[in-house]
Amino acid sequence: MKNIVILISGGGSNMAAIVRTAQRERWADTLGARVVAVISNRPGAAGLGLARELGVVATETLDHKAFDSREAFDAALAERIDQHAPALVVLAGFMRILTPGFVAHYAGRLVNIHPSLLPAFPGLHTHQRAIDAGCRFAGVTVHQVTAELDHGPILGQAVVPVLPGDTADTLAARTITQEHILYPRAVAELLLKL
Ligand code: GAR
Repeated sequence: MKNIVILISGGGSNMAAIVRTAQRERWADTLGARVVAVISNRPGAAGLGLARELGVVATETLDHKAFDSREAFDAALAERIDQHAPALVVLAGFMRILTPGFVAHYAGRLVNIHPSLLPAFPGLHTHQRAIDAGCRFAGVTVHQVTAELDHGPILGQAVVPVLPGDTADTLAARTITQEHILYPRAVAELLLKL
């Protein structure tokens, strides 16, 4: 069985989309894969409760504030993750910059979703930046994670229009609907290759 570990920091709607798709499409039978754990770096992240409601067996917190350095946190996080013997580690709104050592440890089995059409707008505030730049289209990217922030081979993208009068919030709402469709599809396709 290919174990999937999902890392979150907040609401966990992308995590929920993946878990729900895995359940609906019976990934255990069709792909030999299952979501075994959801881990948050923020205590009390709403996504942890959501994961429990969805029946994810292991829901854990590892508070990055309890560590002196990025390296120490990433080492402890990798130890936690590896207890679940993951075939794939999925970043779903996990708002941490990862150390090169962590990324190398999961080379080829670490994916992220980013709310822009990469390579445009890596980093934060993607929707406002797309509006400010006068973009007519925005979107979302699923990509393999490499040491450089919000880079790495692209696994899938979805495009949404930027409409007159859009705010960062209205554009984010349009985009996240597409995230919830794209991310489970991209994860399923990658699982077939692992
Ligand atoms: C999503 O829009 C995701 O693309 C974004 O955070 C949100 C998390 O929402 N990720 C990043 O900005 C990473 N650079 P969720 O917790 O409801 O899935």
